[in-house]
This record gives sequence, C-alpha cells and structure tokens, in this order.
Amino acid sequence: MILVIGATGKIGGEVARLLVSAGSPVRALVRNPSRATALAGQGVELATGDLGDAASLDRAMQGVDRMFLVSAQDPRQADLQGNAVDAALRASVGHIVKVSGISPSVSPGGPAEIGRQHWRTEHRIEETGVPFTFLRPGFFMQNLLETAAPMVSKLGLLAAPMADAPIAMVDSRDIAAVAATVLTSDNHHDRVYDVTGPRAFDHKQLATVLTGATGQRIRYVNTPPGLAAKVLRRQGKPDWHVEHLVDMAELFRVGAGATVSTTVRDVTGRPPRTIEGFAAEHANSFVRGGVSRLLRTAARSGRDPAGRTSSVTRPR
Ligand SMILES: NC(=O)c1ccc[n+]([C@@H]2O[C@H](COP(=O)([O-])OP(=O)(O)OC[C@H]3O[C@@H](n4cnc5c(N)ncnc54)[C@H](OP(=O)(O)O)[C@@H]3O)[C@@H](O)[C@H]2O)c1
Repeated sequence: MILVIGATGKIGGEVARLLVSAGSPVRALVRNPSRATALAGQGVELATGDLGDAASLDRAMQGVDRMFLVSAQDPRQADLQGNAVDAALRASVGHIVKVSGISPSVSPGGPAEIGRQHWRTEHRIEETGVPFTFLRPGFFMQNLLETAAPMVSKLGLLAAPMADAPIAMVDSRDIAAVAATVLTSDNHHDRVYDVTGPRAFDHKQLATVLTGATGQRIRYVNTPPGLAAKVLRRQGKPDWHVEHLVDMAELFRVGAGATVSTTVRDVTGRPPRTIEGFAAEHANSFVRGGVSRLLRTAARSGRDPAGRTSSVTRPR
C-alpha cells in the first residue's frame, strides 16, 4: 500500500491517479474527504487526517510500505512533514519519496524560508535510515495559472520580478510521473533528483510563447521586487510568504533556476512537457477575459484552473 500525502494538491493528485492506473493500491491522507471524492471514485482509499495530528497519521500509516510526501508551503512545513516522517518510522515504512525545493534553495542557511524547511525535512528523513528519494523540482509551469494568468488575461501584461533570468520551468504532472515511477521501483533509493522541464527560457521568451498560444500580444514587464511584494500583500498573502516569494525571485534572478536536468526522461522514459505544449493546453487561461471565464467553470466543476480540488470557490 502506498500512502499519498497531499493528494488533493497538484502533484499529489496526479501521483495518486498514476499509481491507481498502474494497478498499485493507494491510500490518500486527506483533511477533508469531501474534497477528494474524485480520487475515491478512481479507486483511491481515503484516510481522514492531518499532518498536525499524529494519531491520524498512525491510523493512515497502517499496512503502508511506501509513502509519498508533499504538502503546501507553510511556515510550519518542516514540523508538519516531520510528523509524517516520525509516523512512517513507527510503521516501518520502507521508502519515503518527498517533494522538496529547487536545489540551490535547500540548505540549512538557504536564502528562502521554504528551502530551509525542506532541508530540515530531508535531514530528518536521512536521520531515520529509511530509504528515500528526494525530488527537487524547478519552478512549476502551473504557477503561471495562479500568478500570471489573471493579469495577462486582463491587461496582456506578464509582470514578474524575474529580470532576464532563464528558468527551466517544469510541468507539475512530470514531477508526479517521476514520483509514481520511483514509488513503484527499488532502483531509486537514497537518491536526490533535480526535476526540470526540457529547456530554460526567460520571461520575455515566455511572453512570446503565450502570445503564440493565445494569438494576442502579451508583453513582459520586469517588476521591481518591492512592487511585486506590495502586490502580493494586497492579494492577501501573509508576510512570511511574501518574503519567501521575493527571496525566491532573487534566487531565480541570479540564475539558480537555469540548470536543466534529464530526470524526467531518465526515470520515466519519455521527455518532459514543454512550455509551448503547456501554453497551448492552457491558452484559455491567458486570453483576454479568460480567467474570469475559467473561474466560473471551476466553480461549477469543483476544480481550480491549476488542477487542484477547488479552493477558489469553497473557503475552508
Ligand atoms: N510551486 C513551485 O514552483 C515549487 C517549486 C519547487 C518545489 N515546490 C514545492 O512543492 C510543494 C507544493 O506542491 P503542490 O503545488 O503540489 O501543493 P498544493 O497543490 O499546494 O497542495 C498541497 C497539498 O498539501 C495538503 N496539505 C496541506 N496542509 C496539510 C496538512 N496539515 N495535513 C494534510 N495535508 C495537508 C493539501 O491538502 P488540502 O486540500 O486539505 O489543503 C494539498 O493536498 C511545496 O512543498 C513547495 O515548496 C513548489
């Protein structure tokens, strides 16, 4: 039995679906089963629980031999994920696959909060002696649906504090495909994999790709980090998260996201998805008026435009 934590999220949901379609028994730890009815319908067993509740983790861990661990960025992320690691150790789980941060951010004195938190969890997992695989992805293409699409679809402007930094963005479904393969094999124990898309491109090139996909002119505006922080605060992001995002942007600006890895092809045997394919698939999110239309559709379907069980329409 494989326990998937974060199964209502972008990567975890796809991991659960891929594992089930490959015939693996899958259990998902979910905080709210009503957000996971689609997973249950696909044959995923649901265990209600919370990373903050050790007893619920012990229950979810019964009979589990492998664990997939991803959770939302959170100032308590390392403590919450540490609870899952401790429970996995108590249940004698044989392999932990964890989604971590981009490699240059993952260190005890790293430049951004969540990278430091990822390092703490990785370190804790290594201390347990349980075989592990750490997946360290680059910037998700799916971020663009949340951060860029609203302004692109309103004003035709791709605003970001990324200067001309090349970034090897990755489709989160490819991270999931790597995870699903790794979870069903013993060949990836005690490995750390960078997971990126097939090439690095800057935001000006990204604007050109989005222009091609939408048929509408989209222009990149390099935003000063202070202004980007102000906008994020105005959108309601808490201070710690704004600070983290600004620190990450600074890391990208000095080229930390430019390195391309071959992990997706090496592990899954097929090439990673391209930004051109992603833009074509999601062109409706970027065309004028597209986001408001998509949010209306999401409200009807219960899934948000990034593929998560909708949190746009149903506040917790
Ligand atoms: N975005 C990027 O570019 C990027 C790049 C590199 C690494 N990462 C890393 O990727 C991770 C996020 O992955 P994602 O985008 O797939 O996540 P996501 O879509 O935000 O989903 C997060 C998942 O975690 C679950 N969760 C949160 N708190 C929980 C708790 N206390 N107990 C149980 N489950 C909990 C959520 O469940 P609910 O449905 O109940 O909320 C949801 O299933 C982060 O660690 C981030 O640092 C992101």
